[in-house]
Amino acid sequence: MNFRYNKKPIGVFDSGIGGLTVLKQVMKLLPNENSIYLGDTARVPYGTKSQETVRRYTFQNIHFLLEKGIKILVIACNTATAHSLEIAKKTFPIPIIGVIEPGARAAVRVSKKKRVGVIGTFGTIESSVYNRAILSLDPKFKIFSKPCPLFVSLAEEGLTRGRIARTIADRYLTPLKQKRIDALVLGCTHYPLLKGTIQKSIGKSVKLIDSSIETAKAVKEVLKEKSLENKNSTGSYHHFFISDASSHFLRTAKLFLGKVIDDFVQVDL
Ligand code: DGL
Repeated sequence: MNFRYNKKPIGVFDSGIGGLTVLKQVMKLLPNENSIYLGDTARVPYGTKSQETVRRYTFQNIHFLLEKGIKILVIACNTATAHSLEIAKKTFPIPIIGVIEPGARAAVRVSKKKRVGVIGTFGTIESSVYNRAILSLDPKFKIFSKPCPLFVSLAEEGLTRGRIARTIADRYLTPLKQKRIDALVLGCTHYPLLKGTIQKSIGKSVKLIDSSIETAKAVKEVLKEKSLENKNSTGSYHHFFISDASSHFLRTAKLFLGKVIDDFVQVDL
């Protein structure tokens, strides 16, 4: 174990602020670890863009974080993971974790009926990456997916409960409910904020799978497996970089991370 190397930060990036839900879980589970977060707030959303564009942005984000000397990378964005994880793993020399595989593993673990729902952005759902990940673990599974683009805006507006959120949730989720699923993967960074409404809409018998919690567990496993854990508990740092510093970012970041970010740096990617 190289104590000096292990002090290096975990790099986390997302198309914007949504990945803060993943960072929040990483910070909770791994309090000794340092981190650098990059939110590509100037180019969000990724969920409606083509694979080619999302890959280009992803590679720029990774180069930025590698220059900051990270020891491991978390692609906290479902859409970026869907379009670029495999190629990124082949291209860059550090361990890279996406948000899809951990969620898929959890779905296979908890679903007794082997009938799983997956919700995410257009990009994530169209890529069918969740389907492939789940079926590679157990080909007997039936997967029913649905893009839920408005959930992103609801989360960013703080409209996570109440009549409007519930009406939209019912509209998206009723077809999945009819498929008699018993687990639902929240395949987008923003959806954990709507957990309460989603649960009420889909019904109590359906287990919600929060990719952010599952991803934090995966990060812990990989750090352990590769002997990369930071054993030094003298206080960790968390640095934030964003590609556009709008007041919208500042307002909404707190909803996602659970605390105010006042020391961010704006960067050109
Ligand atoms: N971060 C994206 C995801 O998890 C949602 C927001 C976007 O479309 O960029 O897919």
